[in-house]
Amino acid sequence: MDTILEMRNITKTFPGVKALNNVNLNVRKGEIHALVGENGAGKSTLMKVLSGVYPHGSYEGEIFYKGEEQRFRDISDSEKKGIIIIHQELALVPLLSIAENIFLGNEPAKFGIIDWHVAETRTRELLAKVGLKEDPLTLVTNLGVGKQQLVEIAKALSKEVELLILDEPTASLNEKDSDALLELLLEFKAQGISSILISHKLNEVGKVADRITVLRDGATIETLDKQDISEDKIVTLMVGRQLADRYPQRVPNIGEVVFEVKDWVVHHHLHSDRTVVNGIGMNVRKGEVVGIAGLMGAGRTEFAMSVFGRAYGSKISGEVFIKGKKADVSTIGRAIDNGIAYVTEDRKTYGLNLIDHIKHNTTIVNLEGVSSNGVLDDMTELKVANEYRTKTNIRSSSIYQKTGNLSGGNQQKVVLSKWLFANPDLLILDEPTRGIDVGAKYEIYSIINQLVATGKSVLVISSEMPELLGICDRIYVMNQGKLVGEMAASEASQEKIMRAIIRAEGK
Ligand SMILES: Nc1ncnc2c1ncn2[C@@H]1O[C@H](COP(=O)(O)OP(=O)(O)OP(=O)(O)O)[C@@H](O)[C@H]1O
Ligand SMILES: [Mg+2]
Repeated sequence: MDTILEMRNITKTFPGVKALNNVNLNVRKGEIHALVGENGAGKSTLMKVLSGVYPHGSYEGEIFYKGEEQRFRDISDSEKKGIIIIHQELALVPLLSIAENIFLGNEPAKFGIIDWHVAETRTRELLAKVGLKEDPLTLVTNLGVGKQQLVEIAKALSKEVELLILDEPTASLNEKDSDALLELLLEFKAQGISSILISHKLNEVGKVADRITVLRDGATIETLDKQDISEDKIVTLMVGRQLADRYPQRVPNIGEVVFEVKDWVVHHHLHSDRTVVNGIGMNVRKGEVVGIAGLMGAGRTEFAMSVFGRAYGSKISGEVFIKGKKADVSTIGRAIDNGIAYVTEDRKTYGLNLIDHIKHNTTIVNLEGVSSNGVLDDMTELKVANEYRTKTNIRSSSIYQKTGNLSGGNQQKVVLSKWLFANPDLLILDEPTRGIDVGAKYEIYSIINQLVATGKSVLVISSEMPELLGICDRIYVMNQGKLVGEMAASEASQEKIMRAIIRAEGK
C-alpha cells in the first residue's frame, strides 16, 4: 500500500516542555491509523504540527504528504491539501446554527452573495451522512456535546478530505453513537480516505484500526500491525509497565442516607414547556458510590446541574434533603455551602479558567482553605496546589502552567483537584474519565475510593457502562428524563441496564 503521510523526526518544544522528541509517524493511503498514548504523551501536539496549527519553522523535522515535502503555514494551507483535523476541544460557535457553523468561512456563494438556501440543503445532506436528524437551523448551543461532535464531522465532510484527523471523537459519545461514528470511518476508508484516530477507548481502536502507533513521553514507542494488536499489549506500551486491574478494589462501608432528591422536575432552559427531568427521586448514602447510567440525552447532566445550584434549567421543582434536613440549593454558592460539588463533563465551558494557571484553578472554590484571617496565604496556596497536582498526577512543567496549555486529560485532572480541595460531602462527577488514559483512570478511581473511605459520597454519571459497573455500589438508570431502573452493582450488567432503557423506550 502507498504511504500517504510520513512525519520524520518531529521535535516540538514549548517553554519548559519537550512535547515531541524525534517522533516518526507513517500513514498508508486508505488506512485507519490509531494514535494512542497517555495524557500528555504528545498526540494532539503531533496532529497540530501536521495540520499547520503549529506552522513550519515552529518545529523541527519534516512532513512528507503524497510524496512531497510540506511546509504548512497555517491550517488553511493543510486543508487545501485535503488534511482536515477535528480537534479534541470542540470548536463550534455556540450561538450560530448548524448550517452557519458548517459553512463558516466556506459559504456557498452566488455572485458574492451567500446562498443560504443551498447551504441549508447541503447541510441536511451532510447531517444525514453522519446520522443526525437535526434541523440545519438549530443553534449549536442547543445540541449536546455528542451531537456537536457529529456536526464537526459533517463540517469536515463539506471539504474535500483525503486525510481525516480525529482527536478523540468518541470521548463524549455513548456506545451506540461511537459505533456509528466508527462505521462512518470504515465507510470513509472504503472510499479511500485515510484517517488518524486518537482515542483512549482501546477497545474501539482495536475494532477499526489497521495499525496503531504508540507515543510515550513525546517519543514514538512502536507501530503495531492489526494482527499484533491486543488491549493488554497497547496498555503495556503506553504506560511502560503492565497494568493488572482496570478497577481498584474497595470494601464498601455504607452508612445512612446523606443526600436525597424528591420529585425533581426541570424544564429546558430556553423552552420552558419542554420537560427535561421528570420526577426524579434518588438517594446516596454515606460512603457510597452511586452511578447514573443512560443514553446521551437521558437528562443526567441536566439533573445534576439543576441540583447543583440551578446551574441548568427553568421552572425547577422538587426537594433536596441533606442528612435528612431540607436543604436550599437554589444557587451554586448555597449548593457548595451544603456540601455539594459538581465536576462538569465540559471542562472548557464550566470547569476551568483557561488563561489562569493550575495553582489558582485548584483553590478557586475554597479560598478559605488557603487563607488565614481572611487573607490569602501564598505559601499555603502553593502547598495545596502542589499537593493536589501530585495526588491527581497532573503532568505539567509546574503549577504555574496555564491550564489552557495542558493536555486534555490533564485539564480534567485540574478540574477534579479543584473540587476535591473543596472537600464536599457529596461529589457529583459527570463523565469524570472522559479523555483520560487508562493509567490515569485507575488513579481517579482510587481517588474516588479514598473519598468514600473517609465517609464522603460520590454520584457518578458515565456513558461507559463497564466503568459504572467497575466502581459503583448501586446504579440508577435514566431515560428521557425519567428514572427507569435501580440496581445494586453486584446484580447489574450492561445487558440489564440496556434492557431497562429499552423497556422504557417501548412505553
Ligand atoms: N501550548 C502549549 N504550551 C505549553 N505546553 C504545551 C502546549 N500544548 C501542549 N503542551 C504540553 O505538551 C505535552 C503534550 O501535550 P498534548 O496535548 O499533545 O498531549 P496528548 O497526548 O494529546 O494528551 P491527552 O490525551 O491528555 O489529550 C504536555 O506536556 C502539554 O502540557
Ligand atoms: Mg490530546
